[in-house]
Amino acid sequence: MAPTYAVTGASGRLGGRIARRLAAAGLPQTLLVRNPARAPELPGATAVSASYDDPDAVVRALRPTDVVLMVSASETPDRVQQHRTFIDAAAAAGVAHLVYISFYGAAPDATFTLARDHWHTEEHLRASGLPFTFLRDNLYADFMPALVGEDGVIRGPAGDGRAAVVAQDDIADAAVAVLRDPTAHAGRAYELTGPEALGLDKVAATVAAVTGRPVSYVPETVEEAYASRRAHGAPDWQLDAWVSTYTAIADGSLAGVTTAIEDLTGHPATPLEQVLRT
Ligand SMILES: NC(=O)c1ccc[n+]([C@@H]2O[C@H](COP(=O)([O-])OP(=O)(O)OC[C@H]3O[C@@H](n4cnc5c(N)ncnc54)[C@H](OP(=O)(O)O)[C@@H]3O)[C@@H](O)[C@H]2O)c1
Repeated sequence: MAPTYAVTGASGRLGGRIARRLAAAGLPQTLLVRNPARAPELPGATAVSASYDDPDAVVRALRPTDVVLMVSASETPDRVQQHRTFIDAAAAAGVAHLVYISFYGAAPDATFTLARDHWHTEEHLRASGLPFTFLRDNLYADFMPALVGEDGVIRGPAGDGRAAVVAQDDIADAAVAVLRDPTAHAGRAYELTGPEALGLDKVAATVAAVTGRPVSYVPETVEEAYASRRAHGAPDWQLDAWVSTYTAIADGSLAGVTTAIEDLTGHPATPLEQVLRT
């Protein structure tokens, strides 16, 4: 039986990129979305409504021939449980393979608190018996401008640490390479990074060069970071996630550079400046 494809998060940035690449390659796919009206219209693609927390809908949407791409859900306190529900439903549907978009260095004690969620999701997928591949992405290069406050300053407790930020287009290319030959990547975890580890001063300078606006980096203490973000009224888990994004940079957790993008795609990882200019 020829494989079919199922892509979650297709109404979003990363899943959308992956769905567009599969469509461009002429591959049939089901887009599992929460709202079909937000799904991209693509040749060979059928959008169906299936939230991660709706196992009946997920089982109905998936087929045993499907190679599934699972984007991590939006950040909520029950995200891991939603992921577990989706994985259990995919296993009940008997899909051929599940590719999970995880996070760089996923571990139960990762500094970046959300990387712990990814590890728990990975563990559940390992235990499910489904053939799997993990794509563990570093911070998205595309999101670096979002770190800049309205005053043109990136503030956070990152010290002089570095992160090897990675382009969503490169991740999408890597994901499609795995989806097209899942057996070759079964049981593997790939740490996907950009071509170099950058300090936030370099990130600021790059955003400034691309936008033509002055941007700088001002390190905060951890206490200052919590105090400034608490003003937004966010719950503790969200504050921990925001602040630990920076402390993970500070302690070197995100500084490793791998060749996984080039190994999987055949092209080098894209530098931040090129990502932002595109
Ligand atoms: N590595 C990083 O730097 C980084 C940064 C930010 C986020 N992330 C993670 O990476 C993921 C993908 O990034 P992105 O830029 O593509 O995000 P995005 O544009 O916000 O897209 C997220 C997609 O996931 C879908 N989704 C969210 N929660 C879901 C749920 N419970 N059940 C089913 N579908 C759900 C959304 O559907 P709707 O259209 O219905 O909302 C959307 O299609 C994010 O969801 C987040 O977990 C990573």
